[in-house]
Amino acid sequence: MRIILNPNRSAGTINRNIYGHFSEHLGRCIYEGLWVGPDSPIPNENGLRRDVVSALKKLNIPVLRWPGGCFADTYHWRDGVGPVSERKTIVNTNWGGVTEDNRFGTHEFMELCRQLGCEAYFSGNVGSGTVQEFSDWVEYCNMPGKSPMADLRRANGREEPFNVKYWGIGNEAWGCGGNMRPERYADLARQYSTYLRAYDKEHKLFKIASGANVDDYEWTRKVAEIAGRQIDAVSLHYYTVPGDEWEHKGAATEFSREEYFATLRKALRMKELVAEHGRILRKASPKKKLGLVVDEWGTWFDVEPGTNPGFLYQQNTMRDALVAAVSLNIFNNHCDTVVMANIAQTVNVLQAMVLTEGPKMLLTPTYHVFDMYKGHQGAREIETYAETSLLTCGDWSVPNLHVSASEGADGKLLLTAANLSDTEEAPLEVLSDVISAKSAVTGTLLTGRPAAHNTFDKPDAVKPVTMTGIRVEDRRFTATLPACSVAAFEIARE
Ligand code: AHR
Repeated sequence: MRIILNPNRSAGTINRNIYGHFSEHLGRCIYEGLWVGPDSPIPNENGLRRDVVSALKKLNIPVLRWPGGCFADTYHWRDGVGPVSERKTIVNTNWGGVTEDNRFGTHEFMELCRQLGCEAYFSGNVGSGTVQEFSDWVEYCNMPGKSPMADLRRANGREEPFNVKYWGIGNEAWGCGGNMRPERYADLARQYSTYLRAYDKEHKLFKIASGANVDDYEWTRKVAEIAGRQIDAVSLHYYTVPGDEWEHKGAATEFSREEYFATLRKALRMKELVAEHGRILRKASPKKKLGLVVDEWGTWFDVEPGTNPGFLYQQNTMRDALVAAVSLNIFNNHCDTVVMANIAQTVNVLQAMVLTEGPKMLLTPTYHVFDMYKGHQGAREIETYAETSLLTCGDWSVPNLHVSASEGADGKLLLTAANLSDTEEAPLEVLSDVISAKSAVTGTLLTGRPAAHNTFDKPDAVKPVTMTGIRVEDRRFTATLPACSVAAFEIARE
């Protein structure tokens, strides 16, 4: 099967933030997954798990979204600052009705971002908060001089501003964020945005409006038309759910062939969503380039048997790896539209990078895909064409191959390719004028049965290996992708 790489044509630079993540106060994502507290026997630095942070650091995470999700529109940031023993206790009404004692708040999250070396993306409360409260949070985080909120920050131990750039104006305002109609939300977005101020010229804010659910194009159009001047981007939430009903989403590790193909077909739908929402943004706000921020995406299955249904804990297989691969390929290929994406969620929730059990930790197949794809961050997307065959199972058809490619500042090309067939290998012939017989081509491969996954007893059942059998000639190289695999080829020109 031929893949053509054409460095002469590009959709632009792949924004690093496409490789962003999302961590909510939900189940065991923040508590246990990331934060164990400074007195925990689990090795930690300032309360944050050393094992998890060091694994995530390797992914070069550019940006991390917090504190929700639905939790964000119930969150009052002042509850999470100041002496821990005096912090207010609330009920996490969205996620299991558990007690939230706010021991992880703004300062702890910013410490996490410092340790990861990433930017913070705060999702502010519009659903149950006030304009004043949101505006105060920005002042608390970003005001360098003297002011009531900056003084409060200093009293809480932080002299310098945090300079948080990314601010989400509510979350899922059409649902858990207030059940609003788009006109009402768009007016609120205008109002809130007015009072979210930049406190110095060098630190402009990037404001993200709460966007559509899946294919609610009317939402995107109205928000962009009404609030386009006051915002920088509109978000989109799309989850890959194999089942037809939320009550029967399907299991994470035990699934039929038909569910495998349904999952991949639904993941591929991201292309249509990104293209159409992007087209609407360009049309609705022609004078200002509004970005699309896919700040929640990933697989959503039934929770693992015996776990709290409100905690959204699911295993992660090679099927998830393929969903990650095609989604990231789609974002790369639409980098003229998608300015940020945040997979849901970092640890122990939905399509996680890392799962933990007490002091143990494992890396999921999805983690490895993010690792293999990280060279695309900030690189120049290049045009690809893949010759594919169509795979059909029951009602579902998908192409067997899915690819994207980029060129780094050092001139090296990165080609990422997924073989979606569960049974057939894919012999590849990769063609490009920039390849010569002397080019160094290396490959990393992740493969296994569709349901293959890592467990705490066998944490390395699915892990990347170096590819063998790559043959390089003038203008082409050949390699074979096993069934159900993801590969990353690095091509150094001569
Ligand atoms: O990621 C889990 C939840 O999914 C988020 O809290 C919400 O925004 C979405 O519905």
